[in-house]
Amino acid sequence: GKGNHRHFMAKEIFEQPEVIGHTLTEYIDTMDNRLALPSLPVDFSTLSRVTIVACGTASYAGHVAKYWFEQLARLPVEIDIASEFRYREAPMPANGLAVFVSQSGETADTLAALRYCREQGQKILSIVNVTESSIARESDAIVPTYAGPEIGVASTKAFTCQLTVLALLALEAAKARGHLNKAEERLSVRRLMEVPRLMSDVLAHDDLIQAIAHNLSKARDVLYLGRGPMYPMALEGALKLKEISYIHAEGYAAGELKHGPVALVDENVPVVVIAPSTVLFDKTVSNMQVVMARGGRVILISDKKGIGAAGKDAVAVIEVPECDRLTAPLIYSLPVQLLAYHTALAKGTDVDQPRNLAKSVTVE
Ligand code: M6R
Repeated sequence: GKGNHRHFMAKEIFEQPEVIGHTLTEYIDTMDNRLALPSLPVDFSTLSRVTIVACGTASYAGHVAKYWFEQLARLPVEIDIASEFRYREAPMPANGLAVFVSQSGETADTLAALRYCREQGQKILSIVNVTESSIARESDAIVPTYAGPEIGVASTKAFTCQLTVLALLALEAAKARGHLNKAEERLSVRRLMEVPRLMSDVLAHDDLIQAIAHNLSKARDVLYLGRGPMYPMALEGALKLKEISYIHAEGYAAGELKHGPVALVDENVPVVVIAPSTVLFDKTVSNMQVVMARGGRVILISDKKGIGAAGKDAVAVIEVPECDRLTAPLIYSLPVQLLAYHTALAKGTDVDQPRNLAKSVTVE
């Protein structure tokens, strides 16, 4: 059931501290603060490339992971959506790993992409929430997420559990490739173990986010901006908003603004800027100032330091705890989800069963 919540989506958003905690403890030695992933059929130290393929929200988890694998493990990563990847006849490297991310494990395009990668001699690793699924069965190995059943069509807790597993895999790869010593491993693991508590802190801002969403619900178009791992977070924020509130929303890399989308900006377009003070903050803030100079109404999601430095001209701010580049995507997912949820609530749409959408897309 929905517990005390009005919708499955709300229940699933509020479950995140618990299911992230569960997923972490499955893959961490908590006595020792060390990684404890199952043995995988891949040697990260000699791997030439990782190809990550998925659809929708799962693809944005993969897109965040690209930043982690490249920065932490110095491992080249390609990310694509399955419906494009499967038909573009991509040449694949010898000794490559293909990673598939899917809550349901049944998404038709993702499964077809998996079969293509197998034909191309890739090792197949899948991150699934449903372990008795087609994608799980056809993989060389799976690393399950422990989100529990996700009923709401909008993916929330499955997304952050996918991010959690991908973060752990990136750390494992970094370790195998000599870029993470024992002390750094312990520190990273400890930071991840703090995520459930930091998530609870964000969830405590629910009322404030609801008030901001009340205004957002009157908009016709909304822009989301971010840089680095917050770029896929902007894409995810826009998808979540359009999917359940039917408001047109676009996510952009903040640096792309001046290459077109800034033409859209006026006082009627709210712009959600996702900018932790730790990740490319000054660059993002300068894009935000361009938006404000055009009359755009900025909703800034940042930490205390970021809000202190750049929040004064924003129409609204959402403060989240300070976090590093590994944990930020996990923490920043929550305000983005709550903003979409409360906007849909204010519009009175069917949050758990949005029109035209299915939970699991088993057709091409
Ligand atoms: O079951 P999957 O993770 O493979 O599903 C992928 C997408 O269909 C899914 O994430 C979709 O984008 C969600 N409705 C987004 O909230």
